[in-house]
Amino acid sequence: KILVIDFGSQYTQLLARRIREIGVYSEVVQFDEKIDLKEIEGIILSGGPDSVYAKDAPQIPNYVFDLKKPVLGVCYGMQSITKYFNGKVKKEKVSEYGRTEIEIKNNSKLFENLPKKFNTWMSHGDSVVEVPNGAKIIAKTSNNIIASFEYENYYAIQFHPEVRHTEFGNNIIENFVVNICGISNTWSLQDFITQKIEEIRKKVGNDKAIIALSGGVDSSVAAVLMHKAIGNNLKAVFVDHALLRLNEENDVRSIFKEIMGLDLTVVNARERFLTKLKNVSEPEKKRKIIGEEFIRVFEEESKKFSDAKYLIQGTIYSDVIESAASGKKTAKIKSHHNVGGLPEDINFEIIEPLRNLFKDEVRNVGEILGIPKHILYRHPFPGPGLAIRIIEDITEEKLEILKKVDNIFIETLRDTGWYNKVWQAFAVLTPIKTVGVVGDERSYEYVVSLRSVDSVEGMTADWSRIPFEVLDKASRRITNEVKGVGRVVYDITSKPPSTIEWE
Ligand code: XMP
Repeated sequence: KILVIDFGSQYTQLLARRIREIGVYSEVVQFDEKIDLKEIEGIILSGGPDSVYAKDAPQIPNYVFDLKKPVLGVCYGMQSITKYFNGKVKKEKVSEYGRTEIEIKNNSKLFENLPKKFNTWMSHGDSVVEVPNGAKIIAKTSNNIIASFEYENYYAIQFHPEVRHTEFGNNIIENFVVNICGISNTWSLQDFITQKIEEIRKKVGNDKAIIALSGGVDSSVAAVLMHKAIGNNLKAVFVDHALLRLNEENDVRSIFKEIMGLDLTVVNARERFLTKLKNVSEPEKKRKIIGEEFIRVFEEESKKFSDAKYLIQGTIYSDVIESAASGKKTAKIKSHHNVGGLPEDINFEIIEPLRNLFKDEVRNVGEILGIPKHILYRHPFPGPGLAIRIIEDITEEKLEILKKVDNIFIETLRDTGWYNKVWQAFAVLTPIKTVGVVGDERSYEYVVSLRSVDSVEGMTADWSRIPFEVLDKASRRITNEVKGVGRVVYDITSKPPSTIEWE
């Protein structure tokens, strides 16, 4: 396998993912983590936000030098190799961000079969100004900055091959993994499933586990995987926390019956969530309250199930990275519930079988496991539900409004064939009221925003170019059918700089 060592770049997991796409198993570890050194055939050092000369800058772990396997340093990884072997890194006058052309100056296995010049994606303030003694410079940028060098078993590149904007990025990764490390590319998600099931069986043994089923893609796939692994020692619980979409409870019941042929335990926790959330406006506080209350409900449910020892969560990689629960050096964006939103004193051991996968990989695993497409291709729905789509405080009245608006928008997308063309669509209730005219009367009602995005991994997204006629249809229905809404707007912001959800 290829080990990816994380120094805190937002893109680290993409490296592992690109390698898996090529058909080679790869996993991410932290730079300061104790790890099992078996079966490592190559190492990648990720990018990161620090300068290599900063006081607390993360260091390359010693085993990297002991293993004597091929090492690829990306961005910060390149700079830390340079520093270790006594080259020089400096803040140059030019910082390179975004698309940057590089030119290959010397042959290298890393760039085999690639053109002499092509565009790469850069994101660096510091640059390598002197390579280690004996190293060969392989490429430079159009600003004459060193873009790549080779030194013994070390390969270094300043740009990010894992980002899609780097032309031939996948070829470079493949050259490293297959040609330089010599690994055959035969691994598949089927192997992931087999390994995971075995791993879970070993870990859980005859103990009991409960899973939080939300009816979303991630928890459905996690449930089926777990059920394959431990059968009836798994109990599925669905918490109705009052922050669900219209008809969600019934939909989830039927989904669950369809995929697992089992009955679902539904817990009515509406009162307790709404009480705890009363008058709370601050987004992170909402997330924390919901995360905590979830766990408390599950603790109570586990007591009814022979004191289940494990709690299974459908956490996937984008949740992990944006909560910065993985990279200690990664900036925290928000506390995704499942990860950053959970309390510290938990009476369970948590198992997250899909933690290293991206959404589309999760869907592929689901297809292999035989889960019907209409379930796998439901739009993502966040754990904290409508709570993070009602800006400011949550009331039952606001929930009722938002459920209806959301339902009309989704129905419109389904009716017009747009539901499956976009990655995720939903409505947001703003706390703003504006003036309107209804009949001959003045009105003063809420503004709702429709949001629809196109994305592959949820890490970046662009707003969907839905035709005006479709938006018009939704807008008319909303203002005609939903009391309390006076104005409909469409959100045209990409991620970054915004996020997909509003809170
Ligand atoms: P953001 O808003 O961070 O969302 O750009 C990226 C994707 O993650 C979903 N999301 C969540 N999913 N728990 C989840 O299970 C959460 O707390 C959470 N917050 C956001 C969001 O809907 C989008 O698909």
